[in-house]
Amino acid sequence: MKEHIGRILLSEDIILERVRQLGQQISKDYRGKEIIIVCVLKGAVVFLADLLRNLDIPADLDFIQISSYGNETESSGEVRISQGLTTNIEGRHILIVEDIVDSGLTLSRLKEVLLAERPASLRFCVLLDKDRTEDVKFDYVGFKLPAHEFVIGYGLDYAGKYRGLRYIATLEI
Ligand code: PRP
Repeated sequence: MKEHIGRILLSEDIILERVRQLGQQISKDYRGKEIIIVCVLKGAVVFLADLLRNLDIPADLDFIQISSYGNETESSGEVRISQGLTTNIEGRHILIVEDIVDSGLTLSRLKEVLLAERPASLRFCVLLDKDRTEDVKFDYVGFKLPAHEFVIGYGLDYAGKYRGLRYIATLEI
């Protein structure tokens, strides 16, 4: 079960401390408002659970699933919504929670789709942001990662495995 785990990049303590800081910052920025958190399935669920418990503002939840086509460690550039929202987000403050941004394609597609529903505001909270040529900035970022790292753990999988690791490690294949 552990044969693909390489170097530990982010320990459980480091992750939880950063998530606590993000929770504080988000709570401060949205003080007096109610938000809907849209969690991008599946990888972001672990991050979501910890982030949610570090917020002290009212936050409802919804989920969306986006499929990209490609092999196991690289996306192909084509994305589609495979499971949509169940909430009407018009006029609501929306915070997207995502585990990792690689090419940026998933979130740019999601932004397009959600803005069409006319939310009051739309922001992005990303745990891991990989370096890329296109400079896309997100509102809340946990950690920056070098572009070449493929990582597993804390929600991130390799072939459906390792999502339950408490830390984030490099993949060894
Ligand atoms: C990962 C991640 C993002 C996307 C980022 O999802 O959770 O949604 O890839 O890649 P991009 O910036 O190049 O678009 P994945 O397709 O692995 O699905 P999963 O979260 O269900 O594991």
